[in-house]
Amino acid sequence: MKAIVFDKIGGPEVMKIAEVPKPEVKPGMVLLKVRAAGINFADTLFRQGQYLMQPKLPDTPGLEGSGEIEAVGAGVTNLKVGQRVAALGSKMYAEYALAPAAQVIPLPDSIGFAEGAAFPIQVLTAWHMLHTSHKTAPGQTVLVHSAAGGVGIVAVQIAKAAGARVIGTVSNDSKFALVKEHGADDVINYVTNDFATEANRLTGGRGVDLILDAVGATTMEKGLTCLAPFGHLILYGRAGGPPEPLNLFKLFEKSTKVSGFVLYTVTAVPEVMRRGIEESFKLMAEGKLKLVIGKSFPLAAAAEAHRFMESRNSTGKLILTP
Ligand SMILES: NC(=O)c1ccc[n+]([C@@H]2O[C@H](COP(=O)([O-])OP(=O)(O)OC[C@H]3O[C@@H](n4cnc5c(N)ncnc54)[C@H](OP(=O)(O)O)[C@@H]3O)[C@@H](O)[C@H]2O)c1
Repeated sequence: MKAIVFDKIGGPEVMKIAEVPKPEVKPGMVLLKVRAAGINFADTLFRQGQYLMQPKLPDTPGLEGSGEIEAVGAGVTNLKVGQRVAALGSKMYAEYALAPAAQVIPLPDSIGFAEGAAFPIQVLTAWHMLHTSHKTAPGQTVLVHSAAGGVGIVAVQIAKAAGARVIGTVSNDSKFALVKEHGADDVINYVTNDFATEANRLTGGRGVDLILDAVGATTMEKGLTCLAPFGHLILYGRAGGPPEPLNLFKLFEKSTKVSGFVLYTVTAVPEVMRRGIEESFKLMAEGKLKLVIGKSFPLAAAAEAHRFMESRNSTGKLILTP
C-alpha cells in the first residue's frame, strides 16, 4: 500500500510517498481503509520531533482519519467490516491504518468522509474545552485565538451555540469574513492590533470569561490582561512557540485561572468521550456546527499540505485523500 514516510526529522520535504506493507489487524483494533486523513498542526510538530510523542523513524504521520472498516481484530464486538467510521489512531497518512476500537466513531449517513476526518480531533478538542474544561453559558464572552483555523472555526460555532458572545482573533484580515460567517460577533487582527486592548474595549472594560489559546508564546501572558474577574484561559497548543513560565501571582489580580487541555485525557474516559461525540453530532444535525474543509490534497502532496498549514494562510480543516 502507499503511505507517507519520513526517515529523518525535518521540514515538510522529509515526507515522501512510499510503498510499505499493509498493516495486519491486531486484537482490540480495527483496520481502516482510509478515505480521508485529517491533517493537524500536531503533525507538523511530530515531523519536527517537537510533539508529545516522538517519531520512531522511519515513521508515518496522521492522528485521525475516516473510511470503511476493512478488518476487525479479536475481541472487538461492537464494530463490523464495511462500517463507515472516523477514528483516532496513528500512521493515518496511508491507504490503510490501524485504530483502537475504543477510538472508532461510527459516522451517521449524513456525514461524508472529508467531514468525518475533520471530526475527531478538532471538534472534540473544541467541544471539551468549552463544555468539559469550562462551562460555557449564555452571558459569557469567549475569545478564540486563530479563529479561522481547524479548531478555531469549530470553537467559534460551539461557543456561539452555547449562547456566548464570541470574539475571534486572526493574523490576516482575509480571514475575517469566514470567522464572522460562522458566528463570531467580533474579529480582531492580532498581528496589527493589540488583541487584549481590543477585547477590553469590546467588553466595555470588563474583559472576557474564557480564552482558548493554542498560540502560546505571543498570546498567553497578554491574554491574562483581558480576562474578566474569575476568567479562565485554556492553553492547548503552542503554534507560536512555548510560552514563558507564568508567575502565578498574576492570577491574584482578578481571581483568574489558567488550565491546560489535551484531548488524550478525554479519550481515556469513555463516557466523557461519548458525551462530546453525541453532543457534537447533535449540533451538526441541528445545523449549528458546520465543518469547514479548507482544502483537500492527494496523499502524495502531504508536504505541500504541511507547508500550507505552516504558512498561516490555511483556513478550516486540511484533508489528505489516499
Ligand atoms: N491540546 C490538544 O488536544 C489539541 C488538539 C488539537 C489541536 N491543538 C492545537 O490547536 C492549534 C490549532 O490546531 P489545528 O490543527 O486546528 O491547526 P490550524 O489552526 O488549522 O492551523 C494553525 C494556525 O495557528 C495559527 N498560528 C499562530 N502562530 C503561528 C505560527 N507561528 N506558525 C504557524 N501557525 C500559527 C495560524 O492562524 P493565525 O495566524 O490566524 O493565528 C494557523 O492557521 C495547534 O496549536 C494545535 O497544536 C491542540
